Amino acid sequence: MPTLDTQTVNIPLDQRSYDITIGNGLFDNPLTYAQLPSARCAFIVSNTTVAPLYAARLQSALQAKYAQVYTVILPDGEEYKTWQTLNLIFDALLKHGADRKSVLFALGGGVVGDMTGFAAASFMRGVPFVQVPTTLLSQVDSSVGGKTGINHPMGKNMIGAFYQPLQVVCDLQTLHTLPQRELSAGLAEVIKYGPIADMAFFEWLEAHIDALMARDSAALAYAVKRSCEIKAWVVGQDERESGLRAILNFGHTFGHAIEAGLGYGAWLHGEAVGCGMVMAAHLSLQLGRIDQTLVSRLVRLIQKAGLPTVAPPLDKADSAGRYLELMRVDKKAEAGAIRFVLINQTGVADMASAPDALVRHVIDLCSQELH
Ligand code: NAD
Ligand code: GLY
Repeated sequence: MPTLDTQTVNIPLDQRSYDITIGNGLFDNPLTYAQLPSARCAFIVSNTTVAPLYAARLQSALQAKYAQVYTVILPDGEEYKTWQTLNLIFDALLKHGADRKSVLFALGGGVVGDMTGFAAASFMRGVPFVQVPTTLLSQVDSSVGGKTGINHPMGKNMIGAFYQPLQVVCDLQTLHTLPQRELSAGLAEVIKYGPIADMAFFEWLEAHIDALMARDSAALAYAVKRSCEIKAWVVGQDERESGLRAILNFGHTFGHAIEAGLGYGAWLHGEAVGCGMVMAAHLSLQLGRIDQTLVSRLVRLIQKAGLPTVAPPLDKADSAGRYLELMRVDKKAEAGAIRFVLINQTGVADMASAPDALVRHVIDLCSQELH
């Protein structure tokens, strides 16, 4: 049952505005979905790991509203964030006679959420969907803001659409079954909100990182809420990333290169982002934007979150060259020039390019354990 401590964060996007509800016992309560539009059928899209844990309970809750509730089960893993897997969703929608009112429910982490959102954006040119994120990463980031899509072998999240959900349901209870490594990966996306937008939150994270690692309910509730508030503030101003929204990619330029360079799934997305934030912080230091103390504090926090902080080699002969090659495919690159999210001392971030030689220096530096 929703309890009094259920919290709501609104994403302010005019007609596309929606609420994120955060609390315990939400996802399997029919009342959670009371405001959604009526339809004949609903589709739960999940994967082979999450469906056995939660799909039946979501199905029961949705049966109060929809005459037919189908479940589509995808293979689990970043390496399945592909056209082939996306087609499994379309196959099921067509097989069961989905129409334009049918509602898709993404039950799972960011991979399921991004693919379900893209399926919803493109099936019959757009059907409604709801995010029911079950990883920390998806609750604080990927389910919010409408970025949907799949990977291409040459680049991460290269094919997709901006498409907002009708609602996001963050049930903190689902985080109790999350493997510790996945919890750490989610903390990377929580930590990023500090240096880019809110140094008071960064200090709060320094003080509460052990509680978060131990899954303390109050700490998790605050971390999810504050992260969603910051994301709402950014997305509300720049839904389609014409400027400000790019700051949410702090650590991602290096991180995406790590993911693609090692092969999707070798490192978790959050692990790559954690290490990528260390690299982006060092680049910010080299450019005179922040001091060594802030770099050291960030590295310590990322380490305490159980995340890697040493850049992995991507090529035996010229690792830095391979990083550069992969980063040129980044969506933020302009005319082949890589653009990085760089941080400043006071908790603000912006985008800038840097000379290749300096980036090479930072990659070499971050490939050693010396922070
Ligand atoms: P994920 O979806 O792969 O989930 C991680 C693992 O945890 C999977 O094995 C999953 O099956 C399992 N799992 C999920 N919920 C569970 C639960 N409650 N209990 C037990 N196991 C559970 O990974 P993720 O970290 O959630 O998301 C990463 C993806 O999100 C990447 O593809 C990334 O590109 C994307 N992303 C998108 C955005 C966006 O704005 N759209 C933002 C950040 C990341
Ligand atoms: N995760 C980055 C964004 O939503 O823009």
